[in-house]
This record gives sequence, structure tokens and C-alpha cells, in this order.
Amino acid sequence: MRIDESTPIADIVVAYPQTRRLLEEIGIDYCCGGRQTLERACDAQGLSPRETAEQLRRIAETEAARKSGRPALSEIPLAELADYVVETHHTFLKSELPRLAVLLQRVRTVHRQRHGRMLDALGVPFDRLRTDVEMHLAKEEDILFPLIREMEAFLEGNGPEPMMYCGSIENPVTQMEYEHEIAGAFLAEMRRIASDYDLPPDACESFKALYDGLRQLEDNLHEHIHIENNILFPKAVRLAARVPI
Ligand SMILES: [Fe+2]
Ligand SMILES: [Fe+2]
Repeated sequence: MRIDESTPIADIVVAYPQTRRLLEEIGIDYCCGGRQTLERACDAQGLSPRETAEQLRRIAETEAARKSGRPALSEIPLAELADYVVETHHTFLKSELPRLAVLLQRVRTVHRQRHGRMLDALGVPFDRLRTDVEMHLAKEEDILFPLIREMEAFLEGNGPEPMMYCGSIENPVTQMEYEHEIAGAFLAEMRRIASDYDLPPDACESFKALYDGLRQLEDNLHEHIHIENNILFPKAVRLAARVPI
């Protein structure tokens, strides 16, 4: 795939996942804002679309050369992709969110005097994100992903016709995408409150572990949302169009 200024951001990241790092660094949203073109995304960030396209092309060429016959996530069956998301990203969130909550509480107690106000403010979007994300994962695992697996099995002649209790697959997909946007906004708010996770000079090891963990949480959740918004969900919607209801 050729990358130029008119290429949608999501298409670039689907074809060349290694471009995520650069996009993160230059502040281009590739998960919830993935449908915009490279040119529009660059304009919004005050970047040169031509130079950015060139940088992305270099990363893409390196990645294409490195790939060794391993199937890309955009090429595997949807049931397998849903399993991958659960095993990789949902499992990560289920262990990381409670761990970070404990760590945040510990850092709040130790640094109450000098950083209490900032850490209290940081706790607000973190707690909301945790509550929302935990419910979101359950909805995907209990409703949407089983439906995707059933649809695929049915079309391959390996299962009964799925029951669309939710009207059509677009309904749960739209709701999940909406929830992704809210999660993305909480992550951005946390990063803003924590000054881009720039540690204060008096930070202890726990403070450092907290900021490292929150940065990793953001990175992992961005990748997770990208896989769902830009690969799994659009492919599921296209698949559903072939299922008679
Ligand atoms: Fe998910
Ligand atoms: Fe999701």
C-alpha cells in the first residue's frame, strides 16, 4: 500500500503497525480519529503532510522488509482476532487497572503534601476510565464478540444462524466506538493533568512506576482501540451484511 497525503491514518496503521510509535510521538490520533486523512491530521498538528508521509513511508518500507510470512491482524479470521484482543488487551487491562489504582493510592498518600492536588485530580479521570473500561470489556466479551464469532461460523457453514438480539451489529459497534472515544478523552485528560507524565524532581520509585504504568496503559489502550475500530468492527459490519436476518 502506498502512503501519501490522502491516505486515511487508520489504513496506514492497519497496514504498518510500526508507524504507531511515530504517530504517538507527533500527537496524531490513529484510533478514534483514524478515519481522517494524513493531510488533515497533519494540518491540525501544524506538521508538514509531505514530510510526515515520507517519514511514514520509510517506517513502512522497513517493516515490509522485516515481515516474515507472519499473518497480519488484518488478515486473520475475525474469531481469531477477537480471541487475540481478549487474550492480549483485555487481559492486560484486567490486571493493570487494579494494580495502577493501588499504586496511585500509595503515591497519593506519600506525596500528599507537595503533589496532593495534582494526584487527586489525576484520580478522577483514572477512576472513571477504570469503571467505564471494565464495563466495556464485559459488553464486548458477553455480547459483541460472541455475535461476531457466531456470524463467521454461520457463514462458513459451521454453526446455526446467529440471533441478533441487539437489532443489528451496527448498534453494539456504534456504542463501543462511542465508549472508545470517551476512554480516549480520559487518557488525554490524565496525560494533561500529569504534565505529559514528566516526573517531578522529588518523585520516588513508586511515582516513577505509576507514570510508567499510566504511559503503558495509554499506549496499550490506543493500540487496542485501533484494532477494534479499524479492523475488527468494520470487518464485522461487512460480514453482517451477508447474514440474512
Ligand atoms: Fe476491547
Ligand atoms: Fe473496545
